[in-house]
Amino acid sequence: MLTPPAPYQLRPLALTDLNQVLVIDALTFPTPTRAALFRHELTSNEIAYYQALTGENGRLLGFSGYWLLADEGHISTIAVHPDWQGRNLGELLLLNMLYLQCEQQAILSTLEVRRSNRVAQALYAKYGYELVGERPRYYKNGEDALLLTRHLAPPATGEMLFGAMRQALYGRL
Ligand SMILES: CC(C)(COP(=O)(O)OP(=O)(O)OC[C@H]1O[C@@H](n2cnc3c(N)ncnc32)[C@H](O)[C@@H]1OP(=O)(O)O)[C@@H](O)C(=O)NCCC(=O)NCCS
Repeated sequence: MLTPPAPYQLRPLALTDLNQVLVIDALTFPTPTRAALFRHELTSNEIAYYQALTGENGRLLGFSGYWLLADEGHISTIAVHPDWQGRNLGELLLLNMLYLQCEQQAILSTLEVRRSNRVAQALYAKYGYELVGERPRYYKNGEDALLLTRHLAPPATGEMLFGAMRQALYGRL
């Protein structure tokens, strides 16, 4: 896990975070995720890795998660509370996942993003994700997904690949 400047902290997401996660999820995604799904991810899914981002007094500001499928890290979610968006925290969550996936020797980082989600697409482009495919009507509301990938280069570490980005980001936090 990365160690960002205070007061921000990254740690594994826990079941005790669930209520705050559901609040942020409902505020940030068009179709809220069911509590049961998060519970499953946190307790039963052995390939799932979820992270919490906290601020002052341990308040949950955002969360992220991915599945490690063999040598592919597939990002399942990333969200920052609307009150905290635009302050580099989504970037911190993404960078942290990239560091973790490098540690786990992933070759590829992948994800789906809504065609209309320009903010997230800009974030992913900044970190070198490229469009490799589309999944028509992937989302419940009928919207298409764009499939993006970012090649990692094991045995390169996160610091080797993204150290300069990390330093610049810490300077802005
Ligand atoms: C997507 C999300 C995680 C980004 O987090 P954030 O904290 O708001 O973004 P950051 O402040 O870290 O910005 C990081 C990059 O995102 C992009 N970005 C952020 N806000 C943007 C905006 N208003 N317009 C365009 N691009 C924007 C930029 O590339 C930015 O880098 P820059 O500052 O060098 O330009 C956040 O907006 C969110 O939770 N959205 C709702 C949930 C969601 O859509 N998740 C993604 C699902 S695929």
